[in-house]
Amino acid sequence: MTPSGDTWVFGYGSLIWQPSFSFLEQRPARIHGWSRRFWQGSHDHRGLPDAPGRVVTLIEDKHASCEGIAYLVAAATLKRVFEHLDYREKNGYERYNIQLDFLNEKKAPELGIMYIAPVDNHAFLGPASMEDMALQIQHSAGPSGSNLEYLTELAAALRHMQIHDQHVFELEEMVLALGR
Ligand code: SIN
Repeated sequence: MTPSGDTWVFGYGSLIWQPSFSFLEQRPARIHGWSRRFWQGSHDHRGLPDAPGRVVTLIEDKHASCEGIAYLVAAATLKRVFEHLDYREKNGYERYNIQLDFLNEKKAPELGIMYIAPVDNHAFLGPASMEDMALQIQHSAGPSGSNLEYLTELAAALRHMQIHDQHVFELEEMVLALGR
């Protein structure tokens, strides 16, 4: 179901650095109870059906929080934007309702929608050692480009926003070291 009214959409992965839809406003935001992890398989963007890449999803963790960008999508464009995002995120992701806290604390929290690939989706890869994940990312590519690009663009965007994500930065360091 598509919501009505101007709606916040939260991005924590490629939606941070490549939203590919129009919006009225964007704000750095945080959600509580979730960790960003490279545990989702990508058979359609950063890998191939028989050689999936690794992209991020969110894993429930009540002590964690995850920072990303919230985009305010105009009511008039919502239907088109969600059709586009449902297609883009079709490899296992589902829409979830979430409360967004803005990093600028003067702004009151808002409800929003995000795309999560739940642990029981067909493309879920789950955890692996950092070395194995780094190797998989180094070797994978798909119609949207290399898996390395996905990782380095995400890490660069987080750095630019002064967001620290140990999992992402450690993985980036390992993949770049493999290429040296
Ligand atoms: C997101 O960016 O919010 C979802 C995961 C992705 O497309 O990388």
